[in-house]
Amino acid sequence: MTRRPSRLEAWPRPFDPHVELDWGDPIVNRRLLREHLDQTHDGASRRLRVIDKQVRRLLRLLPRPPAHVLDAACGPGLYSVRLAAAGHHVTALDVGPAVVAHARRLARQDGVDGLVDARVADLRDLADVTEYDAAVLIYHVLEAFPRRDQPAVLRRLASSLRDGAPLIVEMRLRPDQPDGRVSSWEVVRGSLLSDRRHLLLVETVHDRSANTYVLRETAVFDDGSTAVQQTSSALTRLGALPSLFARGGFAVDAIYDGWTRFRATDLSDTVLVVARRRHRLAMVPPVS
Ligand SMILES: C[S@@+](CC[C@H](N)C(=O)[O-])C[C@H]1O[C@@H](n2cnc3c(N)ncnc32)[C@H](O)[C@@H]1O
Repeated sequence: MTRRPSRLEAWPRPFDPHVELDWGDPIVNRRLLREHLDQTHDGASRRLRVIDKQVRRLLRLLPRPPAHVLDAACGPGLYSVRLAAAGHHVTALDVGPAVVAHARRLARQDGVDGLVDARVADLRDLADVTEYDAAVLIYHVLEAFPRRDQPAVLRRLASSLRDGAPLIVEMRLRPDQPDGRVSSWEVVRGSLLSDRRHLLLVETVHDRSANTYVLRETAVFDDGSTAVQQTSSALTRLGALPSLFARGGFAVDAIYDGWTRFRATDLSDTVLVVARRRHRLAMVPPVS
């Protein structure tokens, strides 16, 4: 979104529709794919050696292969193809066309295209009637929806899982910065905002009382024009996770400290929530 500097909000407003990143925009998504695959950072997706390790952990938490697994918000399919290589049938869904195309290419390249069905889909209006045996939602996706939308996203996932099926969600509980703003700038050859060389101003704002986190990036070009975009997160505290998942139709089995085998504590910055889709009958109020 192009803006005159004087029109920028002094402090980024979480989920500001004028500047919030549109993950499904084809141009932005093409630039995002570059970030997903970049092996010099763990930005949009983790580096492959980290993913290999995380997939080993997922395989211990998922049903034994072959199961039908939904990789929700799959990005470029880096987890999907590894789960397929372990023998699972994977449906890989993402709102970004470039990342989904990459997931398909990767599956072909790895010889698991018969086991990976990668499609463009928006988790906000998922209408998949398949009853998957399990689902994963990896790398801080749930909290990227506004707080009021998060139970509905979980309910969509619940409706595409069979009764009792596990859902594994990786969530960030707090950012690695104190309350307030941290900012920096650098000259870059390109970013999510442009393929041209520009000055990139980066601000991250943690509002502890609202429990939100915003990353705002502003590109300044040679002619003085600017472009701005942001990604927001509505975070949930550890103790409130069971009720968030219950509103989404799940019972929480375990919450781990990040990708470790240890239970989460109040000191955990990120968690892996293992929840189970509640039985449909148990969700119907008893007849009196
Ligand atoms: C941080 S990336 C994680 C991707 C992948 N899970 C991984 O770890 O490699 C977040 C992903 O969520 C996807 N996404 C964001 N909003 C979405 C939505 N409403 N429906 C489907 N996918 C969405 C983005 O396109 C992006 O690929």
